[in-house]
Amino acid sequence: MKIMKAKDYDELSRKAANIIASQVIMKPDCVLGLATGSSPLGTYKELIDWYNRGDLDFSNVKSVNLDEYKGLTRDNDQSYYYFMYNNLFKHINIDMANTNVPDGTEPDSETACSKYNAIIESVGGIDLQLLGIGHNGHIGFNEPADECPKLTHCVDLQASTIEANKRFFASIDDVPKQAYTMGIQTIMQAKKVLLIASGADKAPIMKAAFFGPVTPHVPASILQLHPDCTVVADEAALSQCDL
Ligand code: F6R
Repeated sequence: MKIMKAKDYDELSRKAANIIASQVIMKPDCVLGLATGSSPLGTYKELIDWYNRGDLDFSNVKSVNLDEYKGLTRDNDQSYYYFMYNNLFKHINIDMANTNVPDGTEPDSETACSKYNAIIESVGGIDLQLLGIGHNGHIGFNEPADECPKLTHCVDLQASTIEANKRFFASIDDVPKQAYTMGIQTIMQAKKVLLIASGADKAPIMKAAFFGPVTPHVPASILQLHPDCTVVADEAALSQCDL
């Protein structure tokens, strides 16, 4: 595992975007695994700049997103589909037919998850998976538990995750209680993993995840076992890590 320290959020966003850009340049028809949340916003802005400069072509790129809230439609401004469209896809030349997000409107979890697993398989797996990290160590919406679910599954979001995400909703009662998420095996099978983290509030979990034991109670800790995992984080997020 490689840990790259950036001085602040802007620098980490540039470093992360450069890694993703090099993936797209080296393999123009690559499969990108994408994340939502606050962490990747700067990275996506940088990628849009790369595209606007004429230095990056997404026309043959395929994407699979990590997760989606169960019950939200694509046009709901809190859905992850909406997030991806507005923060990245509509600004670049990716073919929307090549973008994939779990179907939050499918009420039957088994159908939604098996369809998404089939999509991931049909694109041939993930070349580079971008991840954020939750305060409880979740990656995607794989919450701390006694075991790691392998494939796409429906999760009951933990109170801490609902609390962390309420900032995006009118009230905490509006935060969906369930989500569909890619499983740990799928994430671990990505050829490359890039995890980004920013801010002092992430410092304790960064220490636990990357310097503590590998345990499903800290789902991100399993990335210590990935053969090609890069962590890009700012000084504040790494402030409790001995580097
Ligand atoms: C988002 C996702 C989550 C976030 C995590 C961190 O698709 O899967 O695991 O990456 O909750 O969120 P932020 O970046 O908002 O701190």
